[in-house]
Amino acid sequence: TSLSIGLIPADGIGREVIPAARRVIEAVIPNKVRLEFVDLAAGFELFTKTGVALPEETIRVCRDGGVDGALFGSVSSPSHKVAGYASPIVALRKKLDLYANVRPVVSVSPNSNIDMVIVRENTECLVCRIFSFTSLRAKAMFIKYIKSESIENNADGTRTAYATRKISETASRRIATMAFNIALARGAARPSNSPLPLVTVVHKSNVLSITDGLFREVCHDVWNTGKDGEFKKLARMDEQLVDSMVYRLFREPHKFDVCVAPNLYGDIISDGAAALVGSLGVVASTNVGDNFCVGEPVHGSAPDIAGKGISNPIAAVRSAGMLLSYLGFNEEASKIDIAVNKVLLGDKNLLTPDLGGHGKTDGVTNAIIKLL
Ligand code: NAI
Ligand code: MG
Repeated sequence: TSLSIGLIPADGIGREVIPAARRVIEAVIPNKVRLEFVDLAAGFELFTKTGVALPEETIRVCRDGGVDGALFGSVSSPSHKVAGYASPIVALRKKLDLYANVRPVVSVSPNSNIDMVIVRENTECLVCRIFSFTSLRAKAMFIKYIKSESIENNADGTRTAYATRKISETASRRIATMAFNIALARGAARPSNSPLPLVTVVHKSNVLSITDGLFREVCHDVWNTGKDGEFKKLARMDEQLVDSMVYRLFREPHKFDVCVAPNLYGDIISDGAAALVGSLGVVASTNVGDNFCVGEPVHGSAPDIAGKGISNPIAAVRSAGMLLSYLGFNEEASKIDIAVNKVLLGDKNLLTPDLGGHGKTDGVTNAIIKLL
C-alpha cells in the first residue's frame, strides 16, 4: 500500500506544527506502506510575495488525486480588507467542497469528562460569497454577484455596512446527515447499556426565523426520516439557541455529545469549547467532503508566539490522526491518540507554555514519537 499526504503549513506557527505532525506520521506509519509527502504552498505571506494566496497547483494536486489527503497549518489573515486577498483555507474548503468541519473537543484530565464533537457547516452562512441568478424581463438571465459583505456611503458622510447570510436546504441536509452519522458511530463504540448518542442542533431561529429556521427544520427532518429511520431509532436530538448554548457549554460541557451548527456559530462555539480543555493548541479538526479530507488544527497562526519554538504541536498531531483515520489507518490513528493523551497526563513541565509548562514544540513532539 501507499499513502501520499499534502502538507500546507501556510503562515506563522503552521510552519512549526505541520513539520511536527509530519514527524509523528512518519513514526507511526509502518515501513511496508510507501509514505510520501507533497509540499503545497498557500498563505498570506505567499500572497504578499506573489499576489496569490492559494495557487492553482495546490488546488489541482488535492482535487485531482495527486495526494490522498492533506494537512493545513494556519493562515495569518489580516483583520482589515486587503485588495485581492481572500483566506486560502476558506477558498480551499470551497474549491474541494469540504462541507463539514469536524472538531472533537475532549478532556484528558481525570476530573473532567468532556467528550464532544462540534460539526460545523463549512460552505455558507455569513462567511462566503454568494452568487444569485436574477431573471429580468422573462428571457434574459443575469448573474448577480453579491459579495457576502458590502459597504455604502450615506448622504451624511457616514457609512453603513451590510452582510448577507445564506443557508440552503442542501447544505443543511448534508451537514445534519454527517452529524447523525457521527453520532451513530459514537453510539456503536460505546457499551451497549449507554444512553443513545445525542445530537444538539445549534441555531437562533427565535430571531433569525427564516435562515436559522430553515437550518433547524432540515435538521429535524433528517433526524425524523434520515437513513430509513435509523437516525431516529439510534440517536436522540435536541436543540439549543446559540446564546444559551454558550452558557451551557461553560456550565455543563460534559452534557454535550455531538453538536451541529451553521458556519459562524460553529466557529465561535468551538473556539470557546477549546478553552474548556486547556488550550486552542490541543484542539484538532478535519475539513471533510464526500471525496477528500484536510486535517487542520483549530487554532490560527498565533503571531504572538510564532518563531519562538514554543507552539503546541498537539492540535496538528491530533489533526493528522483524524486524517489517518479518515484514510482508513485506524490503528495508527488510535496509537497517536493514546500517545498524545499520555503526554498530556505526564510531566507537566514538558508541555508547552499554553498548558502551563516550560516545554518546546520539539520536546513535545519527541515525547509523542517515543511513545509510538
Ligand atoms: P490564534 O488561534 O492564532 O491565537 C489565539 C491565542 O491562542 C494566542 O494567544 C496564541 O498564542 C494561542 N495559541 C494558538 N495556537 C496555539 C498553539 N498551537 N500553541 C500555543 N498557543 C497557541 O488566533 P488569533 O490570534 O485570533 O489569530 C491570529 C491569526 O490567525 C489571524 O490572522 C487570524 O486570521 C488567523 N486565524 C487563522 C485560522 C486558520 O488558519 N484556520 C483560524 C483562526 C485564526
Ligand atoms: Mg476559528
